[in-house]
Amino acid sequence: MPAGPGDGPAPPAGRRPPRRPPLGLPDPPRRPLLGLPDPRRRPPLGLPDPPLTDPAVGITLRPWRPTPGDVAALAAAWADPEIAARTAVPDDRSTAAAARWLRSEPGRRAAGTCLDLVVAPLVGPVMPAPWGDRDAVLGEVGLRNVTAGPRRAEIGWWTAPAHRGRGLAAAAVRLLAGWALSPGGGFVQVWARIDPGNRASARVAERAGFVLLGSRGGAQVWSRARG
Ligand SMILES: CC(C)(COP(=O)(O)OP(=O)(O)OC[C@H]1O[C@@H](n2cnc3c(N)ncnc32)[C@H](O)[C@@H]1OP(=O)(O)O)[C@@H](O)C(=O)NCCC(=O)NCCS
Repeated sequence: MPAGPGDGPAPPAGRRPPRRPPLGLPDPPRRPLLGLPDPRRRPPLGLPDPPLTDPAVGITLRPWRPTPGDVAALAAAWADPEIAARTAVPDDRSTAAAARWLRSEPGRRAAGTCLDLVVAPLVGPVMPAPWGDRDAVLGEVGLRNVTAGPRRAEIGWWTAPAHRGRGLAAAAVRLLAGWALSPGGGFVQVWARIDPGNRASARVAERAGFVLLGSRGGAQVWSRARG
C-alpha cells in the first residue's frame, strides 16, 4: 500500500485544491452523457489465473484469506513502523480492524477498485517452501486507484520485516505489474508513488521495470506501461 503524499502546500481554508492527476496520467472521467455507458464504472478485477509464481525466487501471489493467520499477519504489518510510515495504513490497526479489512477485500475486487495479493512461499510437490510454511505472509503487493476506461492503476507493496533484503519485493512487483500489463490483466499503465528517501523502494521499482517520470507533491512518480 503506497503512502499518499499530499499534492503541494495546503490551500487557504475553505478552498478546495485543484485536482491534478499524477504525472502523465489522464484527468478522471466525467459524468456519462445521456444514453451512453458510465465511463466511471469499472469492471470487476479478476484474480490472475493461473496464480502468478516466480519459481526462481520461490514465491507465489495469492488472495488474502480471512483466516486467523492472515489476520495476525496483516495486523503485524500495520504495526511495523516502516510500513506505517511508508504506506497508507488505517488509523485503527487492531486485529478486529484487520479482520474487517480482509472480509471486505473481495468486495473491493468486485467493485473493480483494488486488487491486493499476499506474497506467499511457493510450495511444489517436491519443493519445500523456501521462506516458511505455505500459509506464511511474506508481504503484499496490490493495485489501487484503478481508472475506468483505459485501465491504469497505482501499485503498492510491502515486505514483512523478517523477509526484507532477499529480492522478494522486486520479484512480487515484477510479477503483478507484468500480469497487469499483459492482455489477461488489461491495464495500459501501472504507476507508483515513492518517497525520495525510500531508496530500497526506488530500487524495487527499477528492478521491476519501472522508469522514473518525475516528482509530484514531494513523491517520485514511477511508471511501467504496456508494450
Ligand atoms: C521497501 C521494501 C518493500 C523493500 O523490500 P525488500 O523485500 O527488502 O526488497 P528487495 O529485497 O526486493 O530489494 C530491495 C533492493 O533495495 C536495495 N536496498 C535495500 N535497502 C536499501 C537502502 N537503504 N538504500 C538503497 N538500496 C537499498 C537492496 O539492495 C535491493 O537492491 P538490489 O537487488 O540491487 O541489491 C521493504 O523495505 C518495506 O516493506 N518497507 C516498508 C514499506 C515500504 O516502503 N513500501 C513501499 C512504499 S512505496
